[in-house]
Amino acid sequence: MSIVHLRRARTSLVLDARGPGLPRVVHWGADLGPLPADDLPALVDATVPPVVPSSFDAPTVLSLLPEASAGWSGRPGLAGHRDGRDWSTAFRLDTVDVDDPRGDGGDAVRVPGKERDHGGAGAARVTVRAADPGAGLSLTVEITLSTAGLLTVRHRLRNDGDRPYEVRELTPVLPVPAVAAELLDLTGRWCRERAPQRHPWPMGAWVREGRHGRTGHDATLLLVAGTPGFGFGHGEVWAVHTAWSGDHVTVAERRPTGEATLGGGELLTPGEIRLGPGEEYATPLLYAVHSADGLDGLSDVLHTHLRARPEHPRDPRPVTLNVWEAVYFDHDLDRLKGLADRAAEVGVERFVLDDGWFRGRRHDRAGLGDWWVDDDVWPDGLQPLIDHVRKHGMQFGLWVEPEMVNPDSDLFRAHPDWVLQAPGRLPPEWRHQQVLDLAHPDAYAHLLGRLDAVLREHDGIAYLKWDHNRDLTEAGHAGRPGVHAQTVAVYRLLDELRARHPGLEIESCSSGGARVDLEILRRTDRVWASDCNDALERLSIQRWTGLLLPPELIGTHIGPERSHTTHRVHDLGFRAVTALFGHHGIEWDISGISATERTELAAWVALHKRLRPLLHGGRVVRVDHPDPAVQAHGVVAHDRSHAVYAVSRLATSAAQVPGAVRLPGLDPARRYLVRPPAGVPEPALLELAPPGWLASDGGVTLSGSVLGSVGLQLPALHPEQALLLELTAAD
Ligand code: DGJ
Repeated sequence: MSIVHLRRARTSLVLDARGPGLPRVVHWGADLGPLPADDLPALVDATVPPVVPSSFDAPTVLSLLPEASAGWSGRPGLAGHRDGRDWSTAFRLDTVDVDDPRGDGGDAVRVPGKERDHGGAGAARVTVRAADPGAGLSLTVEITLSTAGLLTVRHRLRNDGDRPYEVRELTPVLPVPAVAAELLDLTGRWCRERAPQRHPWPMGAWVREGRHGRTGHDATLLLVAGTPGFGFGHGEVWAVHTAWSGDHVTVAERRPTGEATLGGGELLTPGEIRLGPGEEYATPLLYAVHSADGLDGLSDVLHTHLRARPEHPRDPRPVTLNVWEAVYFDHDLDRLKGLADRAAEVGVERFVLDDGWFRGRRHDRAGLGDWWVDDDVWPDGLQPLIDHVRKHGMQFGLWVEPEMVNPDSDLFRAHPDWVLQAPGRLPPEWRHQQVLDLAHPDAYAHLLGRLDAVLREHDGIAYLKWDHNRDLTEAGHAGRPGVHAQTVAVYRLLDELRARHPGLEIESCSSGGARVDLEILRRTDRVWASDCNDALERLSIQRWTGLLLPPELIGTHIGPERSHTTHRVHDLGFRAVTALFGHHGIEWDISGISATERTELAAWVALHKRLRPLLHGGRVVRVDHPDPAVQAHGVVAHDRSHAVYAVSRLATSAAQVPGAVRLPGLDPARRYLVRPPAGVPEPALLELAPPGWLASDGGVTLSGSVLGSVGLQLPALHPEQALLLELTAAD
């Protein structure tokens, strides 16, 4: 038992694990440097709060699992009982194992070879074991600090008693200091995912619950607490992400006693988790990240961590054409072949056949569940289209929505009991569909068998777009609440399918972006950020999705001139610049577009491919611009020799000239040639003469320090237009 100091990248974690109770996080935040072991007790003492009037007679110890027995009167870390007994715990520390292969972690005890399934090579890991024999419970806390500085915490609770124990809530929490006085989180809805909201952090709990049975359009990908006024490039910030694709909760709690915590876990329905003797419940991973340099610093840690995962997609992300907005349910082989021809001409590398290919699926009211190719529409099956697509050198992808069933389907008619439901009634329909109960072994086996068969029976399906188009409502399994079991079963299904089909890529789509979380992303290769392809809406959706995920994991497609979901009209330049910064694609019927448009589209696709190594490997930066009508972001290569920025005008501004845009992330000591990239048209400008630097064909050469501190005056762009700038180091 010891005081443990873990250090990775720019983050330190100090745990007081001397017992007798659960460890206390003494510090989670900026790297403290290589502290001598002798300094650690003094550090701990310096952080112990005083005893104040009208309070407990000893300082409250806020552990990773807050307990009333340690003087905590905020939200409990564990809520549960055994028939009304064992409702409060006082865990006592048994062992603390530290596996810190490259660290200088104080007087830590080193235990080699404790690989866990997350954190990655080179991570520091602490495993805490504690028990409360009186309550008949034991607890394991798994803490990992990855080489990127990303912290994860998971609790495992085991029932050591001889009668069942019900878990109502088990939530890891981390303390944040009082300087973090402002909160930022995200909400959203269909076609408007990831809307930021921020406010001072008041006393009480700011609780973000998602009861959708999926991650949810409104899920806060990060809950951020920071120094007041923090921005993308400034301020100290702490954030957590609850990695779970079922019901979940993410909480910021500030107490009048002075403590402030961030935490997150699963949202359990009464009766959902009943542990039999010897059984264990594991929480979702709580990811936690700190940055001394604003929100971009959070993304740095997260993106670096995600990119280091062995499962992270490494091949160049193929430019994708998805046929949904081009043909909807109107499947016709010749028409789709024609679309594939046009796609190949403009440089597409993956062609995805969306909803509508399987039995009875002529509209969204029938067919889900019947995963056989529809002979009426596809008399020769899908293979002719697959072959045609592959002949062009493109990959073929196929849409599925495995967890769902239409009541108007052969599957439902044969197995009405294979549906999640409360006893005696079906949940209200949503898009005319119900949810298959994947905790039902026969339903699971059937579905795995069908998906496997579709993949085996066709030569060349490289990719599945895996959709999920409704909330889980009254989602019961065998008469009990079933969201937890369903979520676990979906993970198992994905894992099993991938194991059977190595190399298969999967996209996580859920009515657009309603299943975006780091647990689904351990078994999928990208997310569909939104069903809204309107570039103006997309700018915000992608910016905030990108807080968590690097661009290569976010599907960003060029939609049609008139957006199908908002009816706004945008020129190709604005749509293309917006879609450039992600896993690029097209979602548009390009079979009827003019030759000029086709040439321009091909130029944008070619530009994306040229910039792809930078866009999918570099550091994402966003500009803190004072004018809300201006949004700018960029990607800078790690050696800072190359960068690309987009400056978009969202609306008109109060000021005629909105002010210079500072370009963050460059090397202050180097000089950069700045100019719009060649080969693609520049936006039409709203002025008599553009700024001098833009007027000259050769661009302008300026130092990184000037570009970062003074910035560039921009040309006056029309609203809903964007200017792209490419920077190359001149020396
Ligand atoms: C919802 C998805 O988000 C869309 O992209 C499309 O695949 C439809 N479902 C198909 O039904």
